[in-house]
Amino acid sequence: MKLARDPHTWSKPNEARVKHLEWNAEVNFATHTIAAVALYTIENLTGTDTIIFDTKGLSISEVLVDDVPVSVTISPDKAYIGSALSVPIQKNSKDVMITYTTSPDAEALLWVDGDKPFLFSQSQAILARTWVPCQDSPGVRITYNARVKVPQGLMALMSAENPQSVSADGTYTFKMDQPIPSYLMALAVGDVQFRPIGDRTGVYAIPSLIEAAANEFSDMQAMVDAAEKLYGPYVWGRYDLLVLPPAFPFGGMENPKLTFATPTIIAGDKSLVSLVAHELAHSWSGNLVTNSTWDDFWLNEGFTVYFEQRIMEAVYGRERAEMLAQLSRQDLDATLAEISASAHPEDTRLKLALEGRSPDDGMTDIAYNKGYFFLRLIEETAGRDKFDAFIKSYFNTHKFQVMDTERFLEYLRANLVTPEMERQINIQAWVYGEGLPANAPVVQSNELQKVDEMRMAWEKGEMKNEQLPWASWSYQERYRFISNFSEAVAANQMKTLDAQFEISATGNNEVLFAWLEQAIRKNYTPAYDELEKFLTSVGRRKFVAPLYEAMVATNQMPLAKSIYAKARPGYHAVTVGTVDELLK
Ligand code: BES
Ligand code: ZN
Repeated sequence: MKLARDPHTWSKPNEARVKHLEWNAEVNFATHTIAAVALYTIENLTGTDTIIFDTKGLSISEVLVDDVPVSVTISPDKAYIGSALSVPIQKNSKDVMITYTTSPDAEALLWVDGDKPFLFSQSQAILARTWVPCQDSPGVRITYNARVKVPQGLMALMSAENPQSVSADGTYTFKMDQPIPSYLMALAVGDVQFRPIGDRTGVYAIPSLIEAAANEFSDMQAMVDAAEKLYGPYVWGRYDLLVLPPAFPFGGMENPKLTFATPTIIAGDKSLVSLVAHELAHSWSGNLVTNSTWDDFWLNEGFTVYFEQRIMEAVYGRERAEMLAQLSRQDLDATLAEISASAHPEDTRLKLALEGRSPDDGMTDIAYNKGYFFLRLIEETAGRDKFDAFIKSYFNTHKFQVMDTERFLEYLRANLVTPEMERQINIQAWVYGEGLPANAPVVQSNELQKVDEMRMAWEKGEMKNEQLPWASWSYQERYRFISNFSEAVAANQMKTLDAQFEISATGNNEVLFAWLEQAIRKNYTPAYDELEKFLTSVGRRKFVAPLYEAMVATNQMPLAKSIYAKARPGYHAVTVGTVDELLK
């Protein structure tokens, strides 16, 4: 199939394309490098004389085409995009072998030192090229086998069929025989153990977390079953989850067969497992049907938030799902206000135009939550039964293919949405217009509405701390209460709340995050030790960036800089990139 032009790759996959990779690598913790040989099977589609790979910071020592050394060119490093590796080929060339070493600064990789060191990769959106030369565009899919050597005693895991125990000599082999895009290439190495959950599900974590992880994620099998019932078979074999070090810059990453997750979702009460539903949902939306370029990112994330909600509803009931939807709306409203006032208000469109910019710029709540509400509106307009049948056949018809916004809309009009419904929905405004159309579905969470009412009564002094049903509130209710403090709430009120409910000591990281953000805004300094502890141990960008941002906004730059000086060496490049920008 002819692929769309992707401004974030040097490669020209419509001319010559990679099909399969044999990756042979050695992981070196002493030098923070991976030395590897990548042997690609290629297809020359047009008889071109060159195949182009994306690379960034790689030291390439040798390139062979069909076992014969060739001389290649490597273009100068371009911001975000890296360098084009151009390899001369012939009409019938079969394979390209690239011998290389990664840079210690490879942006995808985070090396956590210690007597039990840890390494993990984060390839999405365009960082795979910093650890594997590849055609780094979401439309290019490859199968791969790998052989990875790591220090004895550590386990290696990939987005592939994985081991469940430590190998005696530190050598592991991997097989991924379903074609995946490069942004789903993943590797982790560490002192981890495996625990089964169901017959196709399990968790990996360091020994001190394995028990807690197995308890926290014990509903994983039920989630897979619920997802399959909705949108068809889970095609990837096993679904396992790896708990990463707290420096992981995201909540989760949908690496095929093995979701990578932050430990900050282990709350002890399964309250944050919607993240697992989300990453699992990507096994259909994203991993099976993949956004054509990063301009169509909402097709990955909007569908996934919608599907996540449906899984949560199926496993935990409607009220819990509606609370989450209500919090999505809260986040979306904040993001809309922020982006609308920024230099790029057009980023509030679902269909993005990211050429010349980092794809990261488009990875906002718009794709996630405006995308979610758009799909929910279609569901509510067409009816759930019809919508479900449509989605199921959409995934099945396009599996292992790319999708762009225009083709999706075409398919939608041909199979679900009538002209009459289209007038009601106003597809044009949702997809190509800025902001949130007025017909956005209304979320009705009675529980969160009660919380809002109590907060207002409490702010007016009509309700005392001890009258708040804090102990019986879910995390969503607590988060709602804290994150909506009005201007009028002052540090001394936070102090009495803290004394009553020990909020600064909560084990729920979402609640803690909301609390710390308010502490900064209200100058509630007794929480600043906790703030520093949090920022120097957790690298999840969604938490970290708003906290630094709040310090900047409230003229506490020296505090921000002094905490960041300690924290920065432990953060992943993704988080460093964002915070450097905030504090410059
Ligand atoms: N695929 C994303 C993470 C991602 C997006 C990485 C863009 C790099 C670029 C993942 O599925 C995700 O959305 N994670 C969210 C959690 C989710 C519950 C909204 C996160 O990490 O916060
Ligand atoms: Zn996602």
